Amino acid sequence: MATTLDNTSTAEKHPFSDRVLIRSIVSRPDGGAGLAGQRVRVGGWVKTGREQGKGSFAFLEVNDGSCPANFQVIVDAAVADLGQLVPTGTSVSVEGLLKNPPEGTKQKIELRVEKVIDVGTVDPAKYPIPKTKLTLEFLRDRIHFRPRTNTIAAVARIRNALAYATHTFFQEHGFLYIHTPIITTSDCEGAGEMFQVTTLISEAEKIEKELIKNPPSSEADVEAAKAVVKEKGEAVAKLKSDKANKEAITASVSELTKAKENLSKLEERSKLKPGIPQKDGKIDYAQDFFARQAFLTVSGQLQVETYACAVSNVYTFGPTFRAEHSHTSRHLAEFWMVEPEIAFADIKDDMNCAEAYVKFMCQWLLDKCFDDMEFMAKNYDKSCIDRLRMVSSTPFERITYTEAVEILEAAVKEGKKFENKVEWGIDLASEHERFLTEVKFQKPVIVYNYPKGIKAFYMRVNDDSKTVAAMDVLVPKVGELIGGSQREERYDIIKSRIEEMRLPLEPYEWYLDLRRFGTVKHSGFGLGFERMILFATGIENIRDVIPFPRYPGRADL
Ligand code: 4AD
Ligand code: MG
Repeated sequence: MATTLDNTSTAEKHPFSDRVLIRSIVSRPDGGAGLAGQRVRVGGWVKTGREQGKGSFAFLEVNDGSCPANFQVIVDAAVADLGQLVPTGTSVSVEGLLKNPPEGTKQKIELRVEKVIDVGTVDPAKYPIPKTKLTLEFLRDRIHFRPRTNTIAAVARIRNALAYATHTFFQEHGFLYIHTPIITTSDCEGAGEMFQVTTLISEAEKIEKELIKNPPSSEADVEAAKAVVKEKGEAVAKLKSDKANKEAITASVSELTKAKENLSKLEERSKLKPGIPQKDGKIDYAQDFFARQAFLTVSGQLQVETYACAVSNVYTFGPTFRAEHSHTSRHLAEFWMVEPEIAFADIKDDMNCAEAYVKFMCQWLLDKCFDDMEFMAKNYDKSCIDRLRMVSSTPFERITYTEAVEILEAAVKEGKKFENKVEWGIDLASEHERFLTEVKFQKPVIVYNYPKGIKAFYMRVNDDSKTVAAMDVLVPKVGELIGGSQREERYDIIKSRIEEMRLPLEPYEWYLDLRRFGTVKHSGFGLGFERMILFATGIENIRDVIPFPRYPGRADL
């Protein structure tokens, strides 16, 4: 991806490895044909291997993950034990001469091996991902071997490309990348779907274990230790008043110090209580790690706003966490979100930015990942390449929430059945969103100006007092890809919105400060990174587009 391959270059050794990347051979426009005669070393894992010519040589299809295509390697029986090389999953490092295969074969270049440098063997009877067609569900139970498959490796390359595209897009438009905290003490969406971060439980367990091993000191122990301190204190006083010699006094003072230390240890231990610390009938978070309640972030938005309101164009891109018990194919408990925030920008600017960013990513995949996209089109979704082309070149439809509801109501009148009732004021369900983008408009749709009752407190109230300047980008295959808004910059209004929603004011005082001092019109959005990958690839389940999926009941590795 870093360099564009052409037909003239030689197959260059990777700078940090003793081999040539397979991509730099087979992904050239000539398929590598022009490299014939060059000596190279390659490394990778055998996808398929077969012995031929009555065991006199073997064909190995080798893949090193640098591109979807395999590389054909031919090894003579005189060079190595072929039986060891052919099982699927075997790793090989081999050296030899590149040759043009006979006319009419699929490959444009192959390697005639002269030396086998290294082999990592596989017992085919025990290999957890044998070479039959494996379902994505099956692979989720073997998460550490998933990347060995063509699909998961292709997803990894597409994911990587979209991350690169994201940074490129925002960097080219003058945005600063801000690292917002993973551990937070404010609930951005106010929806209470947060994972708590606490050491109270592990501390309580530690104390319980300790108390079993070493029972707490009793009151009698403490009293006895107090008596010793008193006695030692009196001894010191006596020696001093008797004008005893220096050594005797020093020795006696040291005994007193020891007695005091022993007493404070016993007192400390007598305070140890099993269980989670309580105060006034509630958990005492003052004793927790951060001396207050803390959570994993659901969104970096509120924190990134502090930078937008200082350096104007910013974005954050990191993991976010939601403890929703949703088992859908569109939800994860840990997912990545891209959140730009733009100062001096209104909801229209926000929509323009979201549309340009999504288009940029689609074009990027067409330009940089076409081979992986072809793989997806062949195996998962025939229309995925056309969809990228369509989205990168077609203006998105923009409709208000009220218009969206009218369209849905008209559809119901014409006989369309939805599980969730359509009426002004509802939060659009996934089925409604998909109807709008897949059936009605057949392209991305931006719905804006939602009823304020269903949206977060920070969204700017419109002049009608009924709606807020919120916008969602809906795309075919996925539904909601982006959620964003213009932020309420007016102090009095945002304060009363927080109160209206019965949220406590105190934790948001710093957020209100941004409105008290130098407030500015600003807008932003959040793009669900995995949803973007679902949309691009046509893969059905979000659990297959993140390397280590986390969802209710499951967090492998
Ligand atoms: O619409 P959401 O909740 O918006 C926010 O969090 C705002 N604070 C963003 C902002 O304005 N800076 O989430 C944004 C996007 C959704 O549109 C969806 O694509 C994705 O995040 N998303 C999820 N993706 C996977 N699993 C989940 N549980 C998700 N929840 C939201
Ligand atoms: Mg949303």
